[in-house]
Amino acid sequence: MKVPVSDYLQQVLGECLADEGSVCDVIPELARVDPDQLAVAMCVADGTMYTAGDADSRFTIQSISKPFTYALALADRGERALLERVGVEPSGDPFNEISLEAGTGRPDNPMINVGAITTYTLVGDGDLGAQERFERVHAGLSAFAGRDLAVDEAVFASEMSTAHRNLALAHLVRSHDIITCDPHEAVTGYVRQCALLVGVRDLAVMAMTLAGHGRNPVTGVQVVPEPVCRLVLSVMATSGMYDAAGDWMTQVGIPAKSGIAGGILGALPGQVGLGTFSPRLDRFGSSSRGVQIFERLSTDMGMHLM
Ligand code: DON
Repeated sequence: MKVPVSDYLQQVLGECLADEGSVCDVIPELARVDPDQLAVAMCVADGTMYTAGDADSRFTIQSISKPFTYALALADRGERALLERVGVEPSGDPFNEISLEAGTGRPDNPMINVGAITTYTLVGDGDLGAQERFERVHAGLSAFAGRDLAVDEAVFASEMSTAHRNLALAHLVRSHDIITCDPHEAVTGYVRQCALLVGVRDLAVMAMTLAGHGRNPVTGVQVVPEPVCRLVLSVMATSGMYDAAGDWMTQVGIPAKSGIAGGILGALPGQVGLGTFSPRLDRFGSSSRGVQIFERLSTDMGMHLM
């Protein structure tokens, strides 16, 4: 019997009940969310969207922003310039660890915090001021989503008030001359990027844009050149889920990125963009139910890359 896609997605939500873990408490403002929110969205290559659950819920993008800022920096400066300052090797360590290459001080990859803070400073050319750089990031991520994304000022202020570890990471890469701007400026811009508000539909469109060679399937805008997407998807596949990347790749097999507000984005090259939202997190900082939903969708629909 054929089941309409949205009914199928609703059924999956009803059966993915992993409720271990708790909501993010590192950013005080995030601890206030309703932990039972649950949503999924799927966008296919022609832009058709299927959703189920609390698809209108908004949450901050957090680390899911990292591959998109990486894409913008690659588009602006090229692969070689990026590789000089940020590697492409999985760190095997948690997202906020001091994962720097011995000797050079180069962050292991752009998906961990220290790599993402560095990547943020590489968007645009070297002469961009702090405000212009954020505007470029904001406009770029909005183009991936196909609509103007707003900043959650309360989450931004809350994270800045506890950003000691990110500031320490930024000072470390500044000490190695990996970043050249003021570390506080770099962290402020990066944290503001993490505070952009999205819903699961946005995640699905952003994912499909990466999966669809850089062209937004809804607006038709070519956001970044095609070769950039191949690099970004490769780094997502190897490092997007941090120290759970191996588990994720073997079990789910879709290039992905998680965020500590509870979102997960998955991009299956050429085929589909997925977004999930559920705020309770596992010990890797990824949504517990989100992981379960991805495992289920990948199995049911044969989406594992291998
Ligand atoms: O920089 C931070 O720690 C947060 N703004 C983002 C961390 C995050 O989302 C980790 N991913 N699951």
